[in-house]
Amino acid sequence: MIRFEDVSFHYPHTQASIEGLSFHIAKGEFVALIGANGAGKSTISRLCNGLLRPSAGRVLLDGEDTSQTPTSRLARKVGFLFQNPDRQICENTVREEIAFSMKAQGWDEQAIAGRVEEILAAFDLAGDWFPFERSRGERQRIALAGALACEPQLLILDEPTTGLDYRECIRIMDYVTALNRDKGVTVLMVSHDMELVQDYARRVLVLEGGKLLGDGDVKRVMKDEALLRSARVLPAQIPALALRLGEGFEDVYTIAEMAGAIQKRRAEASR
Ligand SMILES: Nc1ncnc2c1ncn2[C@@H]1O[C@H](COP(=O)(O)OP(=O)(O)OP(=O)(O)O)[C@@H](O)[C@H]1O
Ligand SMILES: [Mg+2]
Repeated sequence: MIRFEDVSFHYPHTQASIEGLSFHIAKGEFVALIGANGAGKSTISRLCNGLLRPSAGRVLLDGEDTSQTPTSRLARKVGFLFQNPDRQICENTVREEIAFSMKAQGWDEQAIAGRVEEILAAFDLAGDWFPFERSRGERQRIALAGALACEPQLLILDEPTTGLDYRECIRIMDYVTALNRDKGVTVLMVSHDMELVQDYARRVLVLEGGKLLGDGDVKRVMKDEALLRSARVLPAQIPALALRLGEGFEDVYTIAEMAGAIQKRRAEASR
């Protein structure tokens, strides 16, 4: 789906933010991109949808070099949720906001009207709301609804749950998970929340100082304390505790698994 080939990028008048980065994300994967502040996560996200073009190397989307592809064509395939929804929302009603990208891509009016109603219902939004008067969680939902309107094949989420309460967080993530599972939408999610990464991603890319320090299955990365430390990332609490507890807790990642392992150990001790 998306391939980085020895990609470097530097903002004007700065040192390289991304250096010699290579990885491939296949169709249907759910990948998390983690790293400390300034590691280069948002820069990578923007390189994926052509908002930024590499200073060196190539970013290929379905084999096409993004630096040779018009942004409008990339936007057809890539849905993007900005780190801050207020940088994304630009229309005066939720209905117009959701219709915005479909109009830009030349959908006909009837198709737009049908899709807007579908999205409003799926995200529990009212079409006549003024987006900027809504709560943080609602604005995030509006931004995500807009990003998904054109049915992208690759969805990039930059910190999708920051500032959301638990219920709103689950609501958004369950929707994204269903898209990934049922429609094969590829997801690349930037997050600082290791619990979220562990619960939803299947593979993790670990970034530090613009370089890829690690890339692997989520369970392996979550238990690799040395790797997370090098990336200045705090591990999720349950797998970190499981590591401390040692034998019998090797496969523990969630609270439910922790409870099961403790019960098993108690039962063994009382025998
Ligand atoms: N517009 C810009 N101009 C100059 N430098 C920038 C710009 N945007 C980002 N940078 C620099 O590039 C590096 C990577 O920034 P980036 O925003 O990709 O990090 P990040 O991993 O997303 O961080 P955070 O977790 O804080 O969102 C940082 O050193 C940052 O200061
Ligand atoms: Mg960022």
